Order: sequence, then structure tokens, then C-alpha cells
Amino acid sequence: MGYSSFDALAFFFLVFLINLISNQALAWRPVDPTKGFISLTLNRSYYHIQRPYDVPEEQRYSFVNGVHKCWVYSTDKPHTLTSQTKPRTEIAIQGYNYSSGVWQFEGYGYVPYGTSGVCIMQVFGASAPHATTLMVRVYNGSLMYYKGPVLVPDIYDKWFRLNVIHDVDAAKVKVYINGTLKIEVDGRGGTSHAFKCGVYAQDNDSYYMESRWKGIKVLKKI
Ligand SMILES: *[C@@H]1O[C@H](CO)[C@@H](O)[C@H](O)[C@H]1NC(C)=O
Ligand SMILES: *[C@@H]1O[C@H](CO)[C@@H](O)[C@H](O)[C@H]1NC(C)=O
Ligand SMILES: *[C@@H]1O[C@H](CO)[C@@H](O)[C@H](O)[C@H]1NC(C)=O
Ligand SMILES: *[C@@H]1O[C@H](CO)[C@@H](O)[C@H](O)[C@H]1NC(C)=O
Ligand SMILES: *[C@@H]1O[C@H](CO)[C@@H](O)[C@H](O)[C@H]1NC(C)=O
Repeated sequence: MGYSSFDALAFFFLVFLINLISNQALAWRPVDPTKGFISLTLNRSYYHIQRPYDVPEEQRYSFVNGVHKCWVYSTDKPHTLTSQTKPRTEIAIQGYNYSSGVWQFEGYGYVPYGTSGVCIMQVFGASAPHATTLMVRVYNGSLMYYKGPVLVPDIYDKWFRLNVIHDVDAAKVKVYINGTLKIEVDGRGGTSHAFKCGVYAQDNDSYYMESRWKGIKVLKKI
């Protein structure tokens, strides 16, 4: 029995379908955002802990078994006597302030249930009136770019990998969760930038705010 032209057609259609499906699978597969970047030395010489000015560090920050835990209360004081900002406990990585090039923050983050109205990671520095190029916030269980759009709808009580790539010259910022690109946005100007993570109260802040971080890296494109 020979092959009919119908068989041939069916065969090519099948090959087409398989290709379509595998290409889709490829597009959805997470990537390694750190490819092509080098990881820089990061120790306490490169960061410090910003916390309410009137309490000792150990009452708002701990570092145990490689996990940084930052917490703050909505009734806390700002991080300096003269600051008018809301309370924060943040790991401020100011040893790698940058003004050009392509920089990346990587960290595994965790936000416990109930923490809301808070910035958990930021790219500091922008042109006035802005102070920041990026804020990753949590409102009512959702991880957001500022007040939206939503990056992850249900973020509480599980670790996630956050990668933020800031291309200063191209003025672009990319945010990846677990290796999947969630958003690409424009930069907001500025001449000096630094990465920070922790908890920094925003609007509608919950009384208690906490985020945990491990495997924090600062990387630079080679
Ligand atoms: C941090 O690393 C740098 C460069 O390797 C080193 O010079 C410095 O002493 C280290 N500081 C601490 C606190 O470990
Ligand atoms: C880095 O920038 C911060 C403000 O974001 C500033 O307070 C700090 O002094 C700067 N550090 C260096 C080493 O330039
Ligand atoms: C917060 O999220 C919960 C569950 O998703 C929802 O029922 C509730 O209405 C939300 N509250 C606000 C203020 O958005
Ligand atoms: C990220 O990965 C972790 C562990 O693999 C998983 O528990 C979490 O749900 C993932 N989150 C998202 C938003 O993909
Ligand atoms: C904050 O709360 C007010 C009143 O409960 C609500 O109208 C507003 O949408 C909330 N804002 C955010 C960013 O959740």
C-alpha cells in the first residue's frame, strides 16, 4: 500500500504542530538572567542596615544561617533623626553605587503572610521628582511594580528568586521572578543608583512588615 497525498499532508501537519508546541514550551522556559554577568564581592563593607534611628540593629534585623531578616512597625521612627520618610529596615548596598553600565541585583526573597503596603526592593536614585528608579512592593499578598501592575498575584509564605537588571545607558529595567521576565520598564533618570532590599513602609502599611533575603548578589555585565 502506497502513501496517499492525504497521509503526507497529515504528516506535515503533525510536524508543524510538534514544532509549534515545542517552540511555545521554549518561550515559557525560565532563563538564567545572570548569564553574561559577573558576580561582585559582597560583604558588610559594601552594605549597611538602615533601621529606625532609635532602636538597636538586632531589634529590627537578624542574619542567621545565611538568611537576612528585616522587620519594621508602622509606628517606628524613620532611619535618621531628620528624615521625613516612613519607617524602614533595609539592606542598603551603597558600596556599588553606579551611574552607567548594566547592573543586576539577585536575591531570594520571602514575605510572610500579612505584610502589606511596603517596598521590599528598590533601585535607589532617579531624576526629581522621583527618588527611585524601581520599587518592588507588596500590597495585600500581591507583588507589584510600585502600585501596579501586579508581578505575582500570590507572593506570601514562599521563597522566590528576584532578578533586577538595570541598563543605565539604555534607561531600561527588567524584573524577573524565578527566571521569568515579569516586566520591562523605562528608567527614571538620575546620576547615582544603589540597590536596597528589606522593608520600607508605603501607603496602607500593615502594622508589622517583614521580608527575608538570602543569596543576595550584585552583578555587572561584562
Ligand atoms: C570585604 O571584601 C573586601 C574585598 O575582598 C575586603 O577588602 C574587605 O576586607 C572585606 N570586608 C569584610 C568586612 O569582610
Ligand atoms: C552611595 O549613594 C548613597 C545614596 O544613595 C550615599 O548615601 C552614599 O554615600 C553613596 N556611597 C558612595 C560610596 O558613594
Ligand atoms: C485582599 O485579598 C483578599 C484575597 O485575595 C481579598 O479577599 C480582599 O478583598 C483583598 N483586600 C483588599 C483591600 O484589596
Ligand atoms: C518560585 O519558585 C519557588 C520554589 O521553586 C516556588 O515555591 C514559588 O511558588 C515560585 N513562585 C513563582 C511566582 O513562580
Ligand atoms: C489604601 O486603602 C484605601 C482605603 O482602605 C483604599 O481606597 C486604597 O485603594 C488603598 N491603596 C492601596 C494602594 O492599596
